[in-house]
Amino acid sequence: MKLLEPMAIGSMSLPNRVMVPAMVTRLADEDGWVTQDIADRYVRYAKGGVGLIVVEAMAIHHSNSGPLLRISDDRFIPGLAGMVERIHDTSDSKVVPQIIHFMKVARSGWRQTIDMLSLEDIDRIVEQFGDAVARAREAGFDGAELHSAHAYTLASFLSRRNPRTDDYGGTLEGRLHLIGRVRENILRKVGDDFPVGIRFLSEEFIKDGYTVNESKLIALRLAQLGFAYLSLSVGGKFEDAEHVPGQVPYPYTGYSGDRCMPGAWYPPALHAGLAGEIKAFVNAKGYATPVAAAGKISDPADAERVLTEGAMDFVAIARGLLADPDWVNKVRAGQLDRIIRCDYCNVCKHLDGTHKKVVCFLWPKGDLQAPADDAVTTAPAWGSDKGNLKIRQEGGAAVLTWTKTPGAARYDVYRAADDGEVTVEDAVKVTRWVDNTIMAGMSYRYYVRACGPTGDASPPSNTVHLAPEMPADATAGRARTEA
Ligand SMILES: Cc1cc2nc3c(=O)[nH]c(=O)nc-3n(C[C@H](O)[C@H](O)[C@H](O)COP(=O)(O)O)c2cc1C
Ligand code: SF4
Repeated sequence: MKLLEPMAIGSMSLPNRVMVPAMVTRLADEDGWVTQDIADRYVRYAKGGVGLIVVEAMAIHHSNSGPLLRISDDRFIPGLAGMVERIHDTSDSKVVPQIIHFMKVARSGWRQTIDMLSLEDIDRIVEQFGDAVARAREAGFDGAELHSAHAYTLASFLSRRNPRTDDYGGTLEGRLHLIGRVRENILRKVGDDFPVGIRFLSEEFIKDGYTVNESKLIALRLAQLGFAYLSLSVGGKFEDAEHVPGQVPYPYTGYSGDRCMPGAWYPPALHAGLAGEIKAFVNAKGYATPVAAAGKISDPADAERVLTEGAMDFVAIARGLLADPDWVNKVRAGQLDRIIRCDYCNVCKHLDGTHKKVVCFLWPKGDLQAPADDAVTTAPAWGSDKGNLKIRQEGGAAVLTWTKTPGAARYDVYRAADDGEVTVEDAVKVTRWVDNTIMAGMSYRYYVRACGPTGDASPPSNTVHLAPEMPADATAGRARTEA
């Protein structure tokens, strides 16, 4: 399989073509230090055989934004170095940090925009990016990645909505000016033998935002500047984000956010076509800069297809690898039926958006990491129907039914209400369970695990979703209130 072939990105030799792109975990401590939990999260990907691990966005500047990693000072180097060493000791996975500059956002909905930055502010940002890449090298990372996607500073300069009227805006060249200066500063501080990739948007997916017509040109300039790889994302902007009063706006709540982390209703590999256009354009201009793109690629057949069709050189699998960090090892072993498939429920996104520790809905309750892969397990296994879990609403209750599994002593019923925290609602001996605590206006997602006599649990069944209907009396009441 092309997917499992090694590839080189500058001085980095990837053991295969699977990348886990940056995913904030909210497992850092409040001051941005590496914790045991966050290091465990990335070691887990290394254990699972991922080719390139991009550690979640870490700030290059001093910021007070909760448990997000920092690389803004030399004092953060030892913690980062410890995590990198553990990753390198685990497998031949390569690891880079995603480095980010972001601006202030307030609970009132106010946010700082790039036209508020003075020329001195911009000079400082240029230096901070160069210093952060130098620290990444010092910490032993194999390279670094600039975050120039979504709602953050570099992306706001690249944006077609860039409001500046000086050398940093106006024309496409003006919008690219900051990136050019950042690249030059990195080369001066770190040299050209340390691979530095960049993540940016193939489409902004906002009104008046740029489309692939411009991202092709942006990609060309980034290749000309010598970036080691181009990692493509889409959307994730503040411009169309919903603002819940009293909460900091989250740039993944509008349509552009939907496109960035597409839910179950979107088709698989939906942004591969954009990547293909960009890659073809850059290659035709004589640059072989490797291209990867994310967006619902988690079926091994889709991953292989986007490579063999030439849409990208390596694949970015975010939530698919969060759900199952052993994805690569299972593909290599031909154990496709053992892959825990992400169902794109976006519980993880919701946890991030509400500033909670990011875990997967499909992991056992309370676990901060994916369960160890145990091929020889005494746990019951679902048949090919994955338990055939079904749901229906009966009055004010949700009725769940599933198929009996040989060896099951009990079944644990998992639930996430409004895509929030995951709870085990009950343990039952029969293949039916009734949820009497549902409420119209909420949404509920469920799955079941079959447990053996020693408590070993099967993988999750299929998941089901219910948005309860309003009972007739409440509907009548609402009509009266609205009248
Ligand atoms: C919980 C969560 C956190 C994320 N954090 C980041 C981040 O720090 N930087 C980034 O560039 N993208 C981030 N993303 C976007 C992913 O890298 C990826 O582009 C997106 O999930 C689509 O890929 P997928 O369909 O394979 O999940 C995050 C996504 C999720 C679900
Ligand atoms: S929480 Fe849902 S969307 Fe996120 S990784 Fe798990 S299954 Fe996928």
